[in-house]
Amino acid sequence: MTVVTTDVAVGVDALRRGELVAFPTETVYGLGADASRPEAVARIFAVKGRPPGHPLIVHLATGDQVAHWARLDHETERRVGLLAERFWPGPLTIVVPRSPRAASATVGGRATIGLRVPDHPVALELLRGFGGGVAAPSANRFGRVSPTLASHVVDDLGGLVDVVIDGGPTRVGIESTIVELVGSEPVLLRPGAIGRGELGEVLGVPVLDGRGGESRAPGMLASHYAPHASVELVTAEDAPAAVAAAVAARPTITVGAIAPLDLSHQPSWRLPARADGYAAGLYRALREADRMGVDLLLIAPPTEGPMVAAVVDRLTKAAAPRR
Ligand code: TXA
Ligand code: MG
Repeated sequence: MTVVTTDVAVGVDALRRGELVAFPTETVYGLGADASRPEAVARIFAVKGRPPGHPLIVHLATGDQVAHWARLDHETERRVGLLAERFWPGPLTIVVPRSPRAASATVGGRATIGLRVPDHPVALELLRGFGGGVAAPSANRFGRVSPTLASHVVDDLGGLVDVVIDGGPTRVGIESTIVELVGSEPVLLRPGAIGRGELGEVLGVPVLDGRGGESRAPGMLASHYAPHASVELVTAEDAPAAVAAAVAARPTITVGAIAPLDLSHQPSWRLPARADGYAAGLYRALREADRMGVDLLLIAPPTEGPMVAAVVDRLTKAAAPRR
């Protein structure tokens, strides 16, 4: 049975019993378990249907706990300190060499670990109350888009998780930026609300663009960011004509659209032109399109603001050919 609650203490108790607790962060909802208990972590993989070997991010209440999970040389410790000071709590995951105390199952058998202090009052209350590290992937079934509402978690995992803490819609709406501090040069593994340029400024060295390196961050398959509908990208300018053409060409299917403008077409979702506002509504729109049985989804990206690159990354993956 799944308990849906706003009472964080219920989640803290469940984590202590080794149970699964879905909780809001500023990015998306996470599916948490005690990161130091292999059997609790194994349940995350089981209920998500996630293949083993996909490492989990460990969430911490404060940056002071990094030393427990990581094994850092002097320079990496300095770099983590700079990033933590500027961006934590916040939508940034830092991948570093792990200490032997991190359970192998948590990190998918890797020599590294992803760490993050989330910027959400409920997540921080949960992490402080629990005290330890909480391993948490996004709280969706494997292959579905990440949840940005508690009801998305219940749709995907209701009956399979012990507790869902409802903290309302998540603010950022797409997953955290991931930066790897393992070799001599920092590498961006996943773009997010914190940009590559910002990271480089704070570190004082350029951050390489490591996207496409599937083996570096396994589990970043295109299908993770895709609805069931097939997706085609269009520009905002072309969107009205593209929708009309798709409807005319394929009258037997349901054509939907997501765009930063009103398309006067049903079903369609109008999202803000600014990428931060667009990101906040995107996954909800993708899930609604699926629920309405949309077969073909035409999507026009946002046009303004620093998060355009991160949103276009997710949309490009959603539109990529499926396996
Ligand atoms: O915003 C977020 O990051 C959300 C919230 C819940 O914190 N979490 C999230 O987790 O998106 P997940 O598991 O859905 O995606 C984490 C990504 C995976 O692609 C995984 O491969 C990568 O992070 N990752 C985690 N640990 C890693 C490591 N040690 N080395 C390389 N990649 C890692
Ligand atoms: Mg995920």
